[in-house]
Amino acid sequence: MSEAARRVLQRADELASFTEEPGRITRPLATPALAGAMARVHEWMTAIGLDPVSDAMGNLVGRRGPGPRLIVGSHLDSVADAGRYDGILGVLVGLEVAAATDVPIEVVAFADEEGLRFQSTFLGSRAYVGQVTPEEEAMVAVTLGPPLFEGAKAYLEVHIEQGPVLEALDLPLGVVTAIAGQSRFRVTVTGRAGHAGTTPMALRNDALTAAADLILAAERIAREEPGLVATVGTITIPGGAVNVIPGRVELTVDIRHADDAVRARGIEALRREGRPDVDFEWQLIHAHDATPCSPALTERLADAVGPGAHALPSGAGHDAVTMAAFTDIALLFVRCAGGVSHHPDEAVTEADVAAAIDAATRFAWSI
Ligand code: HGY
Ligand code: MN
Ligand code: MN
Repeated sequence: MSEAARRVLQRADELASFTEEPGRITRPLATPALAGAMARVHEWMTAIGLDPVSDAMGNLVGRRGPGPRLIVGSHLDSVADAGRYDGILGVLVGLEVAAATDVPIEVVAFADEEGLRFQSTFLGSRAYVGQVTPEEEAMVAVTLGPPLFEGAKAYLEVHIEQGPVLEALDLPLGVVTAIAGQSRFRVTVTGRAGHAGTTPMALRNDALTAAADLILAAERIAREEPGLVATVGTITIPGGAVNVIPGRVELTVDIRHADDAVRARGIEALRREGRPDVDFEWQLIHAHDATPCSPALTERLADAVGPGAHALPSGAGHDAVTMAAFTDIALLFVRCAGGVSHHPDEAVTEADVAAAIDAATRFAWSI
């Protein structure tokens, strides 16, 4: 098999040890775990002759040669109880591409794509290109200097598919056509707290049962619209207690679709579902429109993959969304076992990683 692929898998195992929660992989922005992972990647960058630089957000960039360069990047932060390849694979394959070529290149390890710590997505790649707001700088307690981005020939991201398509087709790699648009909301449901024992059912304004109706409506609306996905990933009852009718509930809603108009209709339909006996406050915390990959660059990536390269959309967001406003983007998917991701069972094979390194290297030579 390939020595480079073996090295990528060994390094992914090493980076998995950098976590804020022993026994599982949790590596949020601005934590010792992330700093440790960045420091290890810094060593690997230096060892292959890249010139590493960092920014105040914690991004790490390894440069070689004059600009504009090919940028190969992804993120080192993770969700809670994550797998060991989401984001990581793209940075490690980038190092192998840099080692296997002498093209002007920039390998980028972004410090925050998932938004686990502050619920604001793409903080790393947006800092890299200078798109972070002063409010976000204050929230993270950083003062950003000039962005590290110096222009680019193109941006390539190599990422696990995080879905079942390539496995079902028995293909190691896929070439992404577009990244689905997404909207994320924090919804506060306000009813009226009350005594669980003395308040008749007919006189209640129960925030939690109203939230439950909304959650089931989200599932129903998404099931009824092909390609629409809606997820309530977090729910909290501030000050909840066994004998108190919940007066306030906070939840998050994540809605995505490849077509922005369909996503907008889904959001409107869901907002109409709110029960009249409680109040719903919807706060948009992140949104990006569907983002096409650059057709010409994606055709070049398909050539690098080889005959029969499979094209597919991405339901997951990626730092490539941020980069699309600044340069041409291409996204290479790698088959992952069962399509499982955002879970410790995330897995790739050495053979598929070898295929990804070969395709990304051929692509780099062609730029
Ligand atoms: O949520 C996403 O699509 C990505 O994994 N951050
Ligand atoms: Mn992810
Ligand atoms: Mn990712």
